Amino acid sequence: MTESMRALRYHGAKDLRVESVPVPELLPGQVKIKPEWCGICGSDLHEYITGPILTPAPGKPHRLTGCTVPLIMGHEFAGEIVELGPGVEPGRLKVGMKVCVEPTLFDDDCPPCLDKRRNQCNRGGFFGISGWGGGFSEYVCLQEKVIHPLPDNVPTDIGALVEPLAVAWHAVGAAKHSPEHSALILGSGPIGLAVLLCLLAKGCRQILVSEVSPQRIQHALDIASLHPEVDIKVLDPTKEDVVARAKELCPQGNQGPNVAYDCAGVQKSLDVAIAAIRKGGLVCNVSVWEKPATLNINTLVFEEKKIIGVACYLEGEFQEVIEAISTGKIKNPEKLITAKVGMDDAVTKGFEALYGSREHVKILVHP
Ligand SMILES: NC(=O)c1ccc[n+]([C@@H]2O[C@H](COP(=O)([O-])OP(=O)(O)OC[C@H]3O[C@@H](n4cnc5c(N)ncnc54)[C@H](O)[C@@H]3O)[C@@H](O)[C@H]2O)c1
Ligand SMILES: [Zn+2]
Repeated sequence: MTESMRALRYHGAKDLRVESVPVPELLPGQVKIKPEWCGICGSDLHEYITGPILTPAPGKPHRLTGCTVPLIMGHEFAGEIVELGPGVEPGRLKVGMKVCVEPTLFDDDCPPCLDKRRNQCNRGGFFGISGWGGGFSEYVCLQEKVIHPLPDNVPTDIGALVEPLAVAWHAVGAAKHSPEHSALILGSGPIGLAVLLCLLAKGCRQILVSEVSPQRIQHALDIASLHPEVDIKVLDPTKEDVVARAKELCPQGNQGPNVAYDCAGVQKSLDVAIAAIRKGGLVCNVSVWEKPATLNINTLVFEEKKIIGVACYLEGEFQEVIEAISTGKIKNPEKLITAKVGMDDAVTKGFEALYGSREHVKILVHP
């Protein structure tokens, strides 16, 4: 008889169910983990509200997993190793170890993967979105190479934040952000705040944050108050001209911040980002857009401004984030967690709470 477990499965928009499903089979080369905390991500919320977007709809199986909805959700999680599969020798990973999981699914043999760009895999997807399981469940089985041990001073609730922090870490790395560069972050949701924490970890001395929601402004101010040594200003575009303020506040050279991180993904934030950065500056777009943006290319041409897009993280960046948390370079990551709920409350006190207001940043579910 197959053992069963409880899992939160996505059936379609506004249809998430806690169900009894078979415990996944532990295949050769895999490790079985019992997730302890799993975060609700903005993309999970998008699926819940208007999906299926990234989740493979019925009749359209995912190109790598071959799965379609219903699927177990959750890709930001950490937990404990409970079993090593055939061929996995105890060493780097052992039973009882606390670990977090890099949830990108990749085939490891297409040109981008062979070029160490697994975030651009031709058949890529996400554990917890594209099939093969997800973190909102009692057990998951994954290949050993995507599992990362957590040091003793990084508990599993913080381990569940490594994924969104790795997105931000990758963005800051892709922007080649050096400590003397000033920054403007558009949007202080979980990703914008994660970018803030990563910029602080990299020693950045001047950071502007622009946010429209009063609650999210408060979250940015709370983090800023822990870093009196750094010049952090939180601006409200509904009350002030962010472009003018950015020029005034970052006056060295030819004015404006060196890099703007768009973590809002709306026309206004992109327009402000391009206008605010200094000549030769960079817009690093982290957002996933709901609709196409309008762009006057000439706003880039004459001032040689650049825009780049960033997706997820590269091999090695999860370990860098774990180490940065463990050594205290990334400080107070717990500030991103605004609620912890049980699996039975995941929909009402998790997804619905996030949908209803901007009060929360990251809600963790205990599967
Ligand atoms: N590139 C990646 O790999 C990756 C990974 C995860 C998330 N994302 C994307 O990053 C974006 C941010 O994620 P999130 O979870 O923080 O989203 P979120 O929706 O919680 O946060 C966006 C914030 O932007 C604010 N905002 C809206 N309009 C604004 C404006 N004109 N100026 C300033 N702020 C404004 C909102 O009030 C909100 O607080 C999303 O688009 C998400 O899909 C990308
Ligand atoms: Zn690939």
